[in-house]
Amino acid sequence: MKILVVGTGAREHALVRSLSLDPAVTELHAAPGNPGIGALATLHQVNPLDGPAVADLARTLGVDLVVVGPEAPLVAGVADHVAEAGIAVFGPSGQAARLEGSKAFAKEVMAAAGVPTAAPRVATTLDEVAAALDEFGPTYVVKDDGLAAGKGVVVTDDRAAALEHAHSCLEKVTGGRVVVEEFLDGPEVSLFVLSDGVDVLPLVPAQDFKRVRDGDEGPNTGGMGAYSPLPWAPDGLVDEVLDRVARPTIAEMARRGTPFVGVLYVGLALTSKGVKVVEFNARFGDPETQVVLARLQTPLAGVLLAAATGGLGALPPLEWSDDAAVTVVVASHGYPEAPRSGDPITGVAEADELADVHVLHAGTSSVDGVLTSAGGRVLSVVGTGADLAAARAAAYAGVERITLPGSHHRSDIALAAAQG
Ligand code: AMP
Ligand code: GLY
Repeated sequence: MKILVVGTGAREHALVRSLSLDPAVTELHAAPGNPGIGALATLHQVNPLDGPAVADLARTLGVDLVVVGPEAPLVAGVADHVAEAGIAVFGPSGQAARLEGSKAFAKEVMAAAGVPTAAPRVATTLDEVAAALDEFGPTYVVKDDGLAAGKGVVVTDDRAAALEHAHSCLEKVTGGRVVVEEFLDGPEVSLFVLSDGVDVLPLVPAQDFKRVRDGDEGPNTGGMGAYSPLPWAPDGLVDEVLDRVARPTIAEMARRGTPFVGVLYVGLALTSKGVKVVEFNARFGDPETQVVLARLQTPLAGVLLAAATGGLGALPPLEWSDDAAVTVVVASHGYPEAPRSGDPITGVAEADELADVHVLHAGTSSVDGVLTSAGGRVLSVVGTGADLAAARAAAYAGVERITLPGSHHRSDIALAAAQG
């Protein structure tokens, strides 16, 4: 099978790595990829947001499957262009990707499907925002309606800060909307559910660390680390999420004539009042994918192709390693507020040499043969082991070997879970 992966991050590197280990895969291509992906796949300098260009590339290469990693190309309709070219594509249409592209749309679908989530108020003026803030009270949750690259959500007890965030979202675009919603307490879980538009197939749950600093301090980021499995998660969680969230959502999208094909990222809070959806994304999570795929034993290509072509119902159950996986993100100086690029990175090969460690590239570039940082999240170091403590030890041993001037990482990824 020949496969083209679209995207540039550590999530795409994890996908390409898993695909490269699948004996059914004969050729791997990436657009545009990154230097880490370049060691496993042929890179093509094609703009991932340009649907016709991606479809042309897929046609020229004669690939059997295109896997679209990030949300921006999906929301821009890149999967539609690939499908129109008659090529199987893993990733939803632009219409279906609105589950991530518009928070208000996602809430509307959840309401229609009876999915438990935080009660929302959609606001288009600051007066409406203020009324909604006062209706719910602190802690305030204010979300940009549209894609905001991880910067769209503010959770704060400071009413002025909540209003200020709403103001900046509303004035950014004409017709801007924000969603103000009820605060959800309780631990968060990320569950990825594959869908072919009709059937669903869950992967294993993972937990992400969204805040930049140890102890969940500081601003939200794209994610500073993740681990799987979750020894503390209640029995039956996955089945409950399939029954109450994934199946009703997939059925509602099909009923609307916009079937969802790809991976539905269900972000959950396990609240005192039961499981509730924090967010939907229309793609794999980053960095959770790095730990979920590290545990997947079933070859990946056939699974993604089955989802893309209506064949999930015919697949045997997925096989998973009992090992644990932990990933630690190495972020650049200034991330997330003002990430610095262009710093030299050393020690990646030395980290990769360690048993049970692999290093995935996110924001890197190769300048005259020198690996340098080129983004906020630079590397995702993955460790595996018999339990979370061992996987943590492996991941942090890998991080120790890497140098990047001014970089930072969290030291408490999976710590509480490993300690029970
Ligand atoms: P989102 O982009 O919707 O995932 O939001 C980013 C992060 O903000 C989530 O992972 C949560 O940590 C937090 N968050 C979002 N919505 C809520 C909510 N209703 N209550 C509490 N925290 C939230
Ligand atoms: N790790 C959070 C996300 O991928 O949205």
